Amino acid sequence: MRDLNEHTLTDEVISRFENSTTPRAKQISEALVRHLHAFVREIEPTQTEWEQAIDFLTRTGHMCSDKRQEFILLSDALGVSMLVDAINHRMPEGVTESTVFGPFYVDSAAEFESGSDITEGIEGMRMLITGTVSDQHGQPIPNATVDLWQSDTEGFYDVQRLDTLALRGRFHSDAEGKFSCWSVRPSAYPIPNDGPVGQMLELQGRHPYRPAHVHFMIGADGYETLVTHVFAAGDKYLDSDVVFGVKNSLIRDFVVHETGTAPDGTEMAEPYAYLHYDFRLKKAGA
Ligand code: BEZ
Ligand code: FE
Repeated sequence: MRDLNEHTLTDEVISRFENSTTPRAKQISEALVRHLHAFVREIEPTQTEWEQAIDFLTRTGHMCSDKRQEFILLSDALGVSMLVDAINHRMPEGVTESTVFGPFYVDSAAEFESGSDITEGIEGMRMLITGTVSDQHGQPIPNATVDLWQSDTEGFYDVQRLDTLALRGRFHSDAEGKFSCWSVRPSAYPIPNDGPVGQMLELQGRHPYRPAHVHFMIGADGYETLVTHVFAAGDKYLDSDVVFGVKNSLIRDFVVHETGTAPDGTEMAEPYAYLHYDFRLKKAGA
């Protein structure tokens, strides 16, 4: 086929996928070209804009390292990560909703006894986190693995400014499905915005903030692993989370208490926050 023009090019490109090695590769290649060509037709980029787009993607790639994944951040900021999450986690009624994973999980985080303090000397209002893990119907799940990680009171994760790990840990639910720990109250924070994604947000007139939250990844034999957060009620970014991750069911009060006996029996000489969440996991294959 020769003399292709703007009207005939798309069909010709798609026809070249006839011998794709798998039906899925063919389906994906066809859809990619159909949508990509439609996008180009809609915006009619100038040659300079096309070069800027290539430069943007090149810089996005160069920003990636073993510590930073700018392409995932781009996917997050364009709502693609949450769309993929929604498609892959259509949860039945009663199961805790999932949300975006984010870049700050550390697989080698330490294991702690339930009730432990994970602040590692980080300053800020102390926060008691308690939770339960159960199935869709509220039956407790003992020995579930509960990974949690969060920012500090200034909105930084340990990996962003410390050489050691803090405000993260791995716990196991007890016979009644319960776990708890002491941490600090996290605050809202900007996603890493010193690269191409930050420039894109600026161009789009958007702020880079996420509302305050605590991340959880909870797994148990026979259940789908849940990746989620619990967000702080009242946070000013709940309706404009830069990565579109907020769900009403995941919002809880991070209740501030005055001095006295905390719900886990700890005597507190200063005000502290308290967060409780009951997580419900979906049965594997259900
Ligand atoms: C986070 O919550 O840690 C996060 C999620 C997506 C992008 C950046 C940060
Ligand atoms: Fe986060």
